[in-house]
Amino acid sequence: MSAPETDPRPGPAPEGGAAPGLRLAVLPLPLRLGLAAVVLVLLGGLVASAAHLHAHHAPRDQRPGFSLDDLVGAYHGIRTRAPLEAALERRHPEELAANDRDALLAWLRGGRIAESYDAEALGARAPAEVLARACLECHARNATRGEGIGRTVPLEYWDDVRAVAFGREVLPTDAPLVLASAHTHALGMGSLTAVTILLALGTRWPRRGLGWLILAAGVGLVLDLATWLPAREAAWLVPVLAASGAAWAMCTGSLLLLVLLDLLLPVRRA
Ligand code: HEC
Repeated sequence: MSAPETDPRPGPAPEGGAAPGLRLAVLPLPLRLGLAAVVLVLLGGLVASAAHLHAHHAPRDQRPGFSLDDLVGAYHGIRTRAPLEAALERRHPEELAANDRDALLAWLRGGRIAESYDAEALGARAPAEVLARACLECHARNATRGEGIGRTVPLEYWDDVRAVAFGREVLPTDAPLVLASAHTHALGMGSLTAVTILLALGTRWPRRGLGWLILAAGVGLVLDLATWLPAREAAWLVPVLAASGAAWAMCTGSLLLLVLLDLLLPVRRA
């Protein structure tokens, strides 16, 4: 039997530190500094991917900012009716004359919503006129009726109306593109995670803590990638996809930080 220091077999270290074999902390300084620089690059890559993800997906749901809807749009697609159309269809407001309701619905379902909004040829039937007559007693900013709805959903100006006159149709990314993206992501993220795990196993940090991070990174990665295509059919998978991707990124980032610390912190010699 060889001495424990040179025993190449992996096995639990007595106090949970690095297995005999690779111990990053005792490598010569130039080697540790070089490795630390590479680990910094990997950490920078993670930050850059997060920033790219944010910028790439934010416009997706046709609303400003980045939200879960952006991911729903990208992986599943979003199809909603215009709030105005939905309100009229649920017979809101009740006292609206049937021909006014029909005129408004025809306008919203036609292809010329902006152009016909206050078309003079329509006279009193122009949508702007009907809205002014039938809605503004509640939907004006200073309306006294309607429990204050005029402040949250005003219908006074075209800009107000435009905000509720259009539905959304966001198509998910084409399946062949998702597949092309999955093949590079699986290989890239998988390799990065494997390298990170191997490096982490060479650190002084307790195996138990590392184990949880490694478990979460691995399971996060497999769930993230495995839900990309099924999320096209099942919208509920999109939050699973987002949470597992975030878990992967946080755990892989933490492992890389721990590797970096181990490379740079001095080691107490027995
Ligand atoms: C008597 C007051 C009143 C009148 C008149 C009225 N509304 Fe409303 N409206 C409300 C109130 C209160 C709400 C919020 C509660 C609700 O959604 O029913 C609302 C909500 C809405 C919403 C938002 C629904 C959503 O999805 O959030 C739309 C759109 C709307 N009204 C359109 C109209 C239109 C178009 C007219 C005129 C044809 C009209 N309303 C007339 C009181 C009124």
